Amino acid sequence: MRTFNDPNKLQRWALAQRLAGRKIALVPTMGALHEGHLSLIAAAKRKGADEIVVSVFVNPTQFGPKEDYAQYPRDHRADAAKCRAAGATAIFFPTPENMYAPDHSVWMVEDGALSGSLCGARRPGHFRGVCTVVAKLFNIVHPNFAVFGQKDYQQQTIIRRMVRDMNFDLKIVVAPIVREPSGLALSSRNAYLSGAEKESALALSRALKKLKACAKNGPRPWKAVKEETWDELGKAGLRVDYVEAVDADTLAPVATLEKGVAVLLAAYAGKTRLIDNAVM
Ligand code: PAJ
Repeated sequence: MRTFNDPNKLQRWALAQRLAGRKIALVPTMGALHEGHLSLIAAAKRKGADEIVVSVFVNPTQFGPKEDYAQYPRDHRADAAKCRAAGATAIFFPTPENMYAPDHSVWMVEDGALSGSLCGARRPGHFRGVCTVVAKLFNIVHPNFAVFGQKDYQQQTIIRRMVRDMNFDLKIVVAPIVREPSGLALSSRNAYLSGAEKESALALSRALKKLKACAKNGPRPWKAVKEETWDELGKAGLRVDYVEAVDADTLAPVATLEKGVAVLLAAYAGKTRLIDNAVM
């Protein structure tokens, strides 16, 4: 497995691979890798990539001033070992300094149609940071395809739109959410949770399971179901941020819970903000 720190060196190597006819997959991450991230590498392998490039970069521009940029877990050595074992062929560890010039001033911004609600409404500038760093990674790695997790539902929706609207010459692959046997969606931020908070966090996947069963029995007015779900999460000890049912493609709110609708949840367990989702 090759290790790159310098974007220019990676860009030159990647271009040479493409010119030699090799298929490149990109797996963008912020590190503290877990089985969810590794499932994206496995998906890249299954799709027949010759080179699988994993980027590990805690991207400062997608964190708000009061968010966890400083505390975010970082362990390059462990991440490199996991990537190698999972079959990645290159790992990219840039620094904020070599990704962003001191006078960086051009941004990739979604106009709000997709990023104006849900996490985008609560984390101003978050998706501007995400889209900008992902666009930069696309330009550095020249991938044939890039793999994202359904775990970040709004993120993958916005990235797919960015690729379409900006004519990026690559495909986006979306991989399903990897969960613990308990149902808890794997997340690097789960490392922040105490035992009791982790117990509370199980309410998220439990609620989604119940909503799926509910949707199977036929359409239901969302308003009442939403209130019930909000209460259940609160009773489990979570501070709810949002409970939304949206169109799975456009993220527009829907009034009816039914098959095909995406339900997106965000809640705090203590100080840790967790997200989860499911398509009914
Ligand atoms: P990060 O949170 O590290 O996630 C990297 C990728 O792993 C994302 O595509 C995310 O959806 C996926 N992922 C996380 N948990 C998962 C799980 N339990 N099952 C399946 N996939 C999972 O998302 C980011 O980093 C950043 O915003 C990034 C795209 C790298 C830009 O900085």
